[in-house]
Amino acid sequence: MKSKNHLPQYTTKNMEQLSTIEQEEYRKIKEELIQRKVNDENITVEKEDIISLINQKSINSDKIYNKLENDLNGYGKIDGLLKDDELEEVMIIGNSKPVYVYHRIKGMMITDITLSEIEIRQIINKIANYVHRKIDKQTPILDARLPDGSRVNATIPPITADGPTLTIRKFKKEQLTILDLIKSNSISAHLAAFLWINIDGMDVRPSNIIISGGTGSGKTTTLNTLTSFIPLKERIITIEDILELQIPQDHVIRTEIRPPNIEGKGEISMDVLLKNSLRQRPDRIIVGEVRSKEAITLFGALNTGHSGMGTLHANSTQETITRLTNPPMNVPSIMINSIDFILMQNRIYHPEKGIIRRVTEVSEVVGMEQNTPQLNEIYRYDYSKDALEYVAVSSNALNEIANMKGLSNHDILDEISKREEYLQQNIANKRSNIYETKQILNKYYDY
Ligand SMILES: Nc1ncnc2c1ncn2[C@@H]1O[C@H](COP(=O)(O)OP(=O)(O)OP(=O)(O)O)[C@@H](O)[C@H]1O
Ligand SMILES: [Mg+2]
Repeated sequence: MKSKNHLPQYTTKNMEQLSTIEQEEYRKIKEELIQRKVNDENITVEKEDIISLINQKSINSDKIYNKLENDLNGYGKIDGLLKDDELEEVMIIGNSKPVYVYHRIKGMMITDITLSEIEIRQIINKIANYVHRKIDKQTPILDARLPDGSRVNATIPPITADGPTLTIRKFKKEQLTILDLIKSNSISAHLAAFLWINIDGMDVRPSNIIISGGTGSGKTTTLNTLTSFIPLKERIITIEDILELQIPQDHVIRTEIRPPNIEGKGEISMDVLLKNSLRQRPDRIIVGEVRSKEAITLFGALNTGHSGMGTLHANSTQETITRLTNPPMNVPSIMINSIDFILMQNRIYHPEKGIIRRVTEVSEVVGMEQNTPQLNEIYRYDYSKDALEYVAVSSNALNEIANMKGLSNHDILDEISKREEYLQQNIANKRSNIYETKQILNKYYDY
């Protein structure tokens, strides 16, 4: 079967056109505003100032206000893209090249926008200023976060050949919840119930979980939704490169690394944050993405009785273990045993559904044989049915919970079914945000 080999076009929703008279007024007001206080493009113009100037003229104020607000306080030509919640990513690849976007359903698209080097640099400088950092020839890479939470990476020559680039992972205004993931079939209700029991551990045995997958496969999102299963009484500490997690609980300490300054000093790494968190009596440690020597610290903590969760970049369960046990992470194989479950997360192109995200495998680490971690497959995704199937004969983690609580295996499977049903009942109701979802989950314990 032939498939189309060209990118769909994303046409920008043109801002309302200004008439010639309006354009003239717009130009005058903008000049006046700039003269008044904005000799620096990074200073936010007060909305009231724009409105008061517009009100002095007899013109269509809404159109002009929107354009001024966009030009002065927004991100110029890409502002519309950043406001479109249907887009996951906005990508500028260099001077005078089309801007690309990643659409939630259609995937990669090409836009009708191009920017000059100056325009791209203005946007990058604005972002750098906002986070009080510099980007220049000596430090040509910038990782930052926009005020709305979007994650940004910018590069400039000499490390990029065709001019400055900008990659923005847009922050989704409405964070997905576990109920959303069940509804969209990203995760099955059965797996959600299974993880719920293993994350709250029925008060006796919380599990340690790694969510693994490729770039943009939805690892952070899944991790975020699973945190709503953490019991309210726990003290949670999160450690991230760039703050992304939004945990719907009160007792959370959120920490973020500090990159080195221009002289290469002052870095506070993931490892430092993690070691520090261990002095803060955490119940649950959540590491945004494990990728370097903090892995040993994390596994040390898990081996000494702390509970944790995190994401990791890898394409299979086996590769997850290989990456953990090799440089730069170097976790001794014996320590891998402290992970209970590895979830594989995937971004898949489905001919009818477009881009979909699925948990495609769950494996349990069940012990060691000749220094090699042994895996037991618990869930397996069937591509043809687009369904996740429970394939486990048994689960060590569940057996231990059963033993510790004096329950039979049958009782535990019954509890999974009850929670599965409860989740399913609740997806039928109106959509709940992450905080409401947390309340819904809490109510379950009252029954
Ligand atoms: N299950 C899902 N259903 C729909 N959209 C999703 C799902 N999971 C993630 N997304 C969207 O996909 C994008 C990428 O998600 P996320 O940041 O969780 O991926 P990631 O694997 O952590 O990426 P990275 O490798 O860059 O860290 C986000 O815009 C997010 O809203
Ligand atoms: Mg991520």
